[in-house]
Amino acid sequence: MNRFKSKVVLITGGTSGIGLACTELFAREGARVVTMSIQREEGQGLEARLSQEGHECVFHCGDTSVEADVEAAVKLAVTRYGRLDIVHANAGLLRNQKITEFTLDDFHALINVNLLGPALIAKHSIPVMERQGAGVICFTTSVAAEIGFPGHAIYCASKAGLVAMIRCLTTDHSPRGVRFVAVSPGTIDTPILAKSCEGWDKPKDVLYAEVAKKIPVQRMGTPDDVAGAVAFLVSDEAGFINGSVVHLEGGTLALPPW
Ligand SMILES: NC(=O)c1ccc[n+]([C@@H]2O[C@H](COP(=O)([O-])OP(=O)(O)OC[C@H]3O[C@@H](n4cnc5c(N)ncnc54)[C@H](O)[C@@H]3O)[C@@H](O)[C@H]2O)c1
Repeated sequence: MNRFKSKVVLITGGTSGIGLACTELFAREGARVVTMSIQREEGQGLEARLSQEGHECVFHCGDTSVEADVEAAVKLAVTRYGRLDIVHANAGLLRNQKITEFTLDDFHALINVNLLGPALIAKHSIPVMERQGAGVICFTTSVAAEIGFPGHAIYCASKAGLVAMIRCLTTDHSPRGVRFVAVSPGTIDTPILAKSCEGWDKPKDVLYAEVAKKIPVQRMGTPDDVAGAVAFLVSDEAGFINGSVVHLEGGTLALPPW
């Protein structure tokens, strides 16, 4: 399939987990992809692998919480491919600590990557899209925006802030052709999640099996589950979906509170 033939797509956090699955999906569906992250080696390997397969993908090494890096990523897409149709602001950071324990470094790191980063991506992508009269930005938030995850107060706050920001973007910028959507994953099997298992008294596989049993669909999500939803949300078929956050959590949010 060539669902995104010639579309120009910028993805952040594109070298691992959800962003990696999205980079692969868009490149294999015919898009011209700029994928950005702080993982230089992984990014160069990904660019080489997708190019060898005959797809169009360029890696941009940069930090989404640094304005010059974000500006450079948007500029790369526009100078190389002439436009910017789709952005997936996906890069994120997970650190856990109770509010009584967090350090200022934890706070700034989480807010900078999870909230400032998407804000910078929006700041620099929207003017390009408004000039074109069209464009879609998808954000990766989390069910953590709505659930009180034990020991994750600042992470939850960063994702809830992102959800609030998305609503404002639609009122300010959709009249000029830009659409905003978000995916809100539950438990997805990625390196970020594996890292969160460190320090528990059980091995990761046991923890994952216990978590899967609690999810109504009886399994954890995969990066491909999220990529499939992102692809739909940014497609023309979803053209009337705007300001919406789509949960991908196998039914977890429907569980009764006992
Ligand atoms: N895995 C889950 O269960 C889950 C659940 C809900 C939300 N999320 C969100 O999904 C998104 C992707 O996470 P993932 O699970 O794929 O994790 P991951 O660790 O596999 O991927 C994160 C990616 O973000 C990149 N990144 C981190 N900080 C960056 C920065 N400052 N600048 C540029 N790139 C940066 C990393 O290099 C990596 O490529 C995150 O926003 C995360 O909060 C994940």
